[in-house]
Amino acid sequence: MLTIGELYTFDILGLTQDGCGIGMVGDSKIFIDGVLLGEKVAGIITKIEPGYAAARLFEIIESKGDRIPPLCRYFNRCGGCSLQFIPYDQQLTVKRDIVKEAAVRIAGLDARLVKEAIGSEDILYYRNKAQYPAQHSEGKWKVGFYKSRSREVIDLDFCFLQHKLSNDVRKAVRIYLDELGQNEQFIERKAAIHHIVTRVSHSTCDVMVILVTALNELPYVERLIEKLTDKVPKLKSLYINHNEKGTSQVMGEKNTLIFGEEKIIDSIGSFNFVISPLSFFQVNPTQTRVLYDKVREFAGLVGREAVLDLYCGTGTISIYLSEAAGMVIGVEGVEEAVKDAEINARINRVKNVEFICGRVEHVVGKICDSVDVVIVDPPRKGCKKEVLDAMVRINPARIVYVSCNPSTMAADVKYLSQKGYGVSVIQPIDMFPHTAHVETVTLLRKV
Ligand SMILES: C[S@@+](CC[C@H](N)C(=O)[O-])C[C@H]1O[C@@H](n2cnc3c(N)ncnc32)[C@H](O)[C@@H]1O
Repeated sequence: MLTIGELYTFDILGLTQDGCGIGMVGDSKIFIDGVLLGEKVAGIITKIEPGYAAARLFEIIESKGDRIPPLCRYFNRCGGCSLQFIPYDQQLTVKRDIVKEAAVRIAGLDARLVKEAIGSEDILYYRNKAQYPAQHSEGKWKVGFYKSRSREVIDLDFCFLQHKLSNDVRKAVRIYLDELGQNEQFIERKAAIHHIVTRVSHSTCDVMVILVTALNELPYVERLIEKLTDKVPKLKSLYINHNEKGTSQVMGEKNTLIFGEEKIIDSIGSFNFVISPLSFFQVNPTQTRVLYDKVREFAGLVGREAVLDLYCGTGTISIYLSEAAGMVIGVEGVEEAVKDAEINARINRVKNVEFICGRVEHVVGKICDSVDVVIVDPPRKGCKKEVLDAMVRINPARIVYVSCNPSTMAADVKYLSQKGYGVSVIQPIDMFPHTAHVETVTLLRKV
């Protein structure tokens, strides 16, 4: 029986998807941050819940790797970079272990199918998108990130993962909020902005800012534009996104442009892509090229193939593969992203791609054309069963499964392997240095 405040010694037997260590004391499962697989540690119990407990690290008794001083002074408070305490090469080992664990435990695969993780060239300032929550409490604005496993906002000065321009945006909006905080009319509306979303093009340094609000319009908007353009001269677009506070999804569907142009442009390899507020775009643009090269390699294209790109976003993979394929059809559910995909095909002068707007689970069953390769890059929750069944019915020679969630990837791959597709290789790719997140590209072949 565990007691809160007591010290216990235990081995780290596994890691969660968030990089949190898992140990056992008797029959009790304990979660603990800041540890490595295989270590023996001492931890103080901080929470006991039905089925598990949480502990704070007290001492490493037997170490399995090096530790380095974290770069960021918010480490351990902010929920972002849980792996910042170890050198980058060790982070890659942890990520491969997370993927291996899911492949073996969930999909029943041989661990040797999981390759070494490919590291990112940029490991700082690599992100092109940030979503900063803003909270007004005890007379003060806090703008930053949520504390680990909580909805409390940590007020940040700087984030090393974000582009420097994104940090400048946060500071400028913060000044605006602080000034309005002095204004009596505005105090009533203290939840005016609940998220600041930034998107920065790494190739042009153009900046898009989206302020998510429950209000119909923001007060003193000219002052906001003045502050932003002063601190961020490359501001290209400023939007208000309307969303009632309290929903789990950060952005609502309605965007109103209040300054500048509708879209920004970034590039991957030799292709340019427009980005709109609601469109998905991979967050680490340098490493996206590595990811897409791996997709192209696994797709094994020789120039004639018909390719289906499911969950295609703004058509980035479709367009990237178009040079090597006969024809690519992309399917995507967000209308704005499909419009961007069509623009992207036009500006890159790509003629052999076509996009279908609709939910994959509704559309994929109606595809009757013969398809050689299916690329599938679903959201974190993975694919619905009807999507997996339709992929099997389409009968491609190869399926390339791209995923940012090793658990759902492993569950879907297991299902596909029971339906006649064998896993040839799982390649982890690090798109998210210092965090425990990891992307995978899995090649399945028709047996
Ligand atoms: C992980 S992103 C991949 C995008 C793209 N492959 C890329 O590399 O940029 C997943 C995409 O699936 C879309 N999506 C999510 N659920 C969907 C569904 N049920 N049907 C169609 N698209 C969906 C999202 O809007 C998003 O663009």
